Amino acid sequence: MEELQRLVDLCRPLYTRGQAASYIPALADKDPSLFFVHIIDEHGKSFSSGDVTEKFTLQSISKVISFIYVCEEHGLDEVLKHVDVEPTGDSFNSIIRLENTYLGKPFNPLINAGAITVSSLLVGNTKEQQLVGLYNFISKMTGVETTINEEVYQSEIVTADRNRAIAYYLKSNEVLVGDVEVALDNYFRQCSIEVDARCLAKIGLILSNDGVDPLTNEYFFSKKIAKVAKALMLTCGMYNASGKFATFVGIPAKSGVSGAVLSIANPESMEGLSGKIGIATFGPAIDEIGNSVTSIAFLKKISEQYDLSIF
Ligand code: DON
Repeated sequence: MEELQRLVDLCRPLYTRGQAASYIPALADKDPSLFFVHIIDEHGKSFSSGDVTEKFTLQSISKVISFIYVCEEHGLDEVLKHVDVEPTGDSFNSIIRLENTYLGKPFNPLINAGAITVSSLLVGNTKEQQLVGLYNFISKMTGVETTINEEVYQSEIVTADRNRAIAYYLKSNEVLVGDVEVALDNYFRQCSIEVDARCLAKIGLILSNDGVDPLTNEYFFSKKIAKVAKALMLTCGMYNASGKFATFVGIPAKSGVSGAVLSIANPESMEGLSGKIGIATFGPAIDEIGNSVTSIAFLKKISEQYDLSIF
């Protein structure tokens, strides 16, 4: 898999074009020059580069996972009463469309307004029960116990004025159900969930295979929900750079401000890997929109080289 490694090496120096997220102090401390990649295919073959056991936080990647989980618990139709599936073209934490909108609900579950609404739908009588369900869902997919990074979680809490404003506004419109502070705390915690690149790629593999782990045949979520999640990732997953990403890379992907990106593809042949694949990349230097610069460069390269675009 020398060619994949060559592409990693080609993209790694590009980290100088971005910076580690500075608005959350615990993320700002990460070495911006790190770049890890893990890819796993439906036959269990994998490619790794860098320290794929080093942990990072999911951040916004958690939004697609919590959406899938909540849809599986409540049914897709019920969840779509609270959140739509339209891209915004706005930044992830924008508040501008909350009032001035024809939809009357957040545009999609991958922006903060939609994700906080989804967090309010987690099932359970107590805050602890609500999160345990989500943590278990992730643990079962990855095979690793789900933990959160306490320092990042504390940082989320103290830098969340805009998220609080969004959540209270949604509550006043009766879009957000239940206790606002619980929904916010669920959201802060899910953003702080730690994974490594192997775990993230495994989640991608299951999504790529429509909710069933191809290595064990274990069921996690329905094909119907997987299709919606993939469409959302393609149209809204890379914040307000989703159109460019769909145009020039053309695969479903979701990024987080930690510098991680989860993507999926279906190559005919990619250096010994083939069929449905999950791709995890982690490079903490992000651009002004919030996407990892090294990850985007690498995903573009492999898309071109192995014809990954779905178009
Ligand atoms: O809401 C926040 O501030 C972050 N924890 C969101 C993380 C992120 O990756 C950007 N979201 N779309």
